[in-house]
Amino acid sequence: MQVADRLTKIPPYLFMELRKKIAQAKADGIDVISLAIGDPVEPTPESVVEELCRRARDPENHRYPTDEEKGMMAFRKEISRWYGDRYGVSLDPEREVLGLIGSKEGCHHFVLARINPGDIVLMTDPGYPAYRASIIMAGGEPYSVPILRENGYLPRLEDVPSDVAESARGMFLNYPNNPTGACADRPFFRDLVAFAKDYDIAVCYDNPYSEIVFGGQERLSFLSVEGAKDVGVELNSLSKPFNMTGWRIGMAVGNPDLIAAISKVKENTDSGIFNPIQYAAIKALKDESKNIDRMVEIYSRRRALVLQTLDRIGIRFEPPKGTFYLWVPTPEGMSALEFTGKLFERAAVVVAAGTAYGRYGEGYIRISLTVPDGRLHEAMERIEQGFS
Ligand SMILES: Cc1ncc(COP(=O)(O)O)c(C=O)c1O
Repeated sequence: MQVADRLTKIPPYLFMELRKKIAQAKADGIDVISLAIGDPVEPTPESVVEELCRRARDPENHRYPTDEEKGMMAFRKEISRWYGDRYGVSLDPEREVLGLIGSKEGCHHFVLARINPGDIVLMTDPGYPAYRASIIMAGGEPYSVPILRENGYLPRLEDVPSDVAESARGMFLNYPNNPTGACADRPFFRDLVAFAKDYDIAVCYDNPYSEIVFGGQERLSFLSVEGAKDVGVELNSLSKPFNMTGWRIGMAVGNPDLIAAISKVKENTDSGIFNPIQYAAIKALKDESKNIDRMVEIYSRRRALVLQTLDRIGIRFEPPKGTFYLWVPTPEGMSALEFTGKLFERAAVVVAAGTAYGRYGEGYIRISLTVPDGRLHEAMERIEQGFS
């Protein structure tokens, strides 16, 4: 069966390829440890699971979700409270907040809501692969803006050629950044707002790691600077802070026109989020910020362990302060794929090659800290043995 041409333009999804590789190795009897995927292994807080079960027993909740594609008002109000308390951002729950089935869904719907076929959409390189796929599926043209170590992995907006900026309709960014771990600051946000205003570019600030920061790094929303709501939306998610990746729940907040447009896409695509999941999300946002502190402590310990091991095998670098990933330079003269291959051969450890995130990911691998402590220790012992 012939499938749509647009699908052939999308590179194979990184994790599907990795999963196949891991499954094959396991079938061959190898005890593989995967540090490739960012998916917390600790369970969702008990109180959140309880809330889901309680609400799922009410037949009223078995029907189409309340307020359908927008998310129930109680959920939108809680998001608005959370944004006020955590980031000092005030949001109108009616016009500026929308429930999502994860922030990944928001990326896809953002482009459908904003761009026309052939429009350029800027994205960072290295960058989260789903941006490129979403742009292509909407008929857009992805344009990669490099983010390099010497610039703190922030894009140099002034280097985007003006003809490209003039024809760009959207831009994807995410800080704390997957894959580099870099964080942005308010001066950068101000530059971004000015750039977006100058060129009429809608910003999709994807912020699912906003809570996962270390060493006193401030938790920030792009919307906390003046003018941000005029130029874009922010996506966020319960996946990472509350160990809820499988639940599929997140949010889009910000510019009311974009929120209405994304809502229209959703209205014609899905019928919203299962009510009990929305109630459970309210519970998480209201009562489980302690889970975030606990997880940040766990990731912080694991980060230190990985950094010590890398130091012992001669890989030294100053890691940025966000996300549960480490963006690690490869040893002198080794490409990302060579180093990934060697880690697999010598330690049966799988990591993501930097080039999976774009060509500027060459010379790096990404290590995820979302594995149980025991397995991470084992992986680090094997790496130390294999490389010393
Ligand atoms: C940058 C980025 N955006 C979005 C997502 C998807 O998150 P969600 O589970 O909310 O769809 C991820 C997940 O890894 C991510 O790294």
